[in-house]
Amino acid sequence: MATTHDLIVIGGGPGGYVAAIRAAQLGLNTAVIEADSALGGTCLRVGCIPSKALLEASEHYHQAKHSLGRFGVEISGVELNLPKMLKRKDEVVSSLTQGVAFLLKKNKVTRYAGHGKFTGPNTVVVHSKDGDTELTAKSIIIATGSRVAPLRGVELDGDRIGTSTEALSYPEVPKHLVVIGAGVIGLELGSVWARLGAKVTVVEYMDKILGGMDGEICIEAQKLFSKQGLEFRLGAGVTGAKASGDSCTVEIDGQDPISCDRVLLAVGRIPNTEGLGLDQAGIKTGARGVIEVGAHFETNIPGVFAIGDVIAGPMLAHKAEEEGAACVERIVTGYGHVNYDAIPGVVYTHPEIASVGKTEEELKEAGVTYTKGSFPFMANGRAKGMDSTDGRVKILADKQTDRVLGMHIIGPRAGDLIGEGVSAIEFGASAEDVARTCHAHPQLGEAVKEAALAVEKRAIHM
Ligand code: NAI
Repeated sequence: MATTHDLIVIGGGPGGYVAAIRAAQLGLNTAVIEADSALGGTCLRVGCIPSKALLEASEHYHQAKHSLGRFGVEISGVELNLPKMLKRKDEVVSSLTQGVAFLLKKNKVTRYAGHGKFTGPNTVVVHSKDGDTELTAKSIIIATGSRVAPLRGVELDGDRIGTSTEALSYPEVPKHLVVIGAGVIGLELGSVWARLGAKVTVVEYMDKILGGMDGEICIEAQKLFSKQGLEFRLGAGVTGAKASGDSCTVEIDGQDPISCDRVLLAVGRIPNTEGLGLDQAGIKTGARGVIEVGAHFETNIPGVFAIGDVIAGPMLAHKAEEEGAACVERIVTGYGHVNYDAIPGVVYTHPEIASVGKTEEELKEAGVTYTKGSFPFMANGRAKGMDSTDGRVKILADKQTDRVLGMHIIGPRAGDLIGEGVSAIEFGASAEDVARTCHAHPQLGEAVKEAALAVEKRAIHM
């Protein structure tokens, strides 16, 4: 006989586990189905968290080797202990995935280990090595995330030619790593291995890196990454990649092939909607398997919802978390909302790149008139002290109302600083509101204040 819950969440990643905890807080008898032995999804296991652990570690190594001398800190004999660096990354992951398991337990969420599959609109079977368990619920949330998009001609072998998962654990520093795709994953993981000593070539189909981000910021980013030694081949579509022994060849449309010893495929991700039994439940999907939902995350089948990477929108953990909480709040209270204009995006390179709201290109295309204020970190005292003066803060405001429409930052701690832009947009602040807010001195955040002042051409330190 089927076990009944108020809510079943399929997928224990950031979208799924946050939805489950919020549901438990609101009094629902909640279950989470997760196929992997560890909770936390791609983000915790093989995405955001391990990549940030390696970005942090590789930056320490790079600084110790190349930049600390500028601070008068002379170190000799700096050596890379890659196994130790990778082990620390694994420990960070394991402590966080165990933390999620603890949180589910604390909130009395029932955890089913196995693969969940719909057998009808309200029923899901969990397949595990111990057999099948049938579950029913009035509400079911699909939060199964995404996987790496394949590229025709690129033969993934789980070793020499791999995805971000392999690039988080290369057993030795590649001599020459070719990254296919100058998106977030390609640049973050390309940076890690370049800092550790690999030659890195990034091959990108478009004529710019970080497509979709603000154009000026992308140009500045490319210049800085090039200075750091990353090689770019733009306007270059990869048509194939093959490994033979320890070496690989990457074929590029109309250009010479590149020989290397490792290839990282990072050309986007696609929703994990195969093998879920969506047909049995009659749930509609669109292009690339994206689940179609209405304004409140409900699919065409009443009581079945979808959130995170399986629906449209940026594939970001924090977007999925917001959707998970809003979806459950809507189910229980009738209210629940995500402000898609205020979802930040961060690239954790050095310097970091962060963005929220509209880009200049988007405003131009929409015919919105705007004013722009920009302030360089070169003129910020704290950035000078940190020896991290590359980059700028850029604020875009509505010309008529002065309301902040977008904030784009490249520079030190951009990922932390963008929080101010998110709050400004969330609360409908004007650039003047940001400019008149007292910022502690000496802080990187003063560059945000100055950029807001610069919207009215009255920056003080420029
Ligand atoms: P992406 O969509 O960011 O970038 C993929 C790039 O590959 C594009 O610029 C595209 O033009 C290029 N490309 C496609 N086909 C190509 C070809 N044949 N040859 C050469 N280039 C080609 O995808 P990415 O970096 O794989 O990231 C996937 C998702 O994961 C994104 O949605 C991203 O937001 C998310 N993510 C977010 C992170 C963060 O927030 N820090 C970190 C890592 C991933």
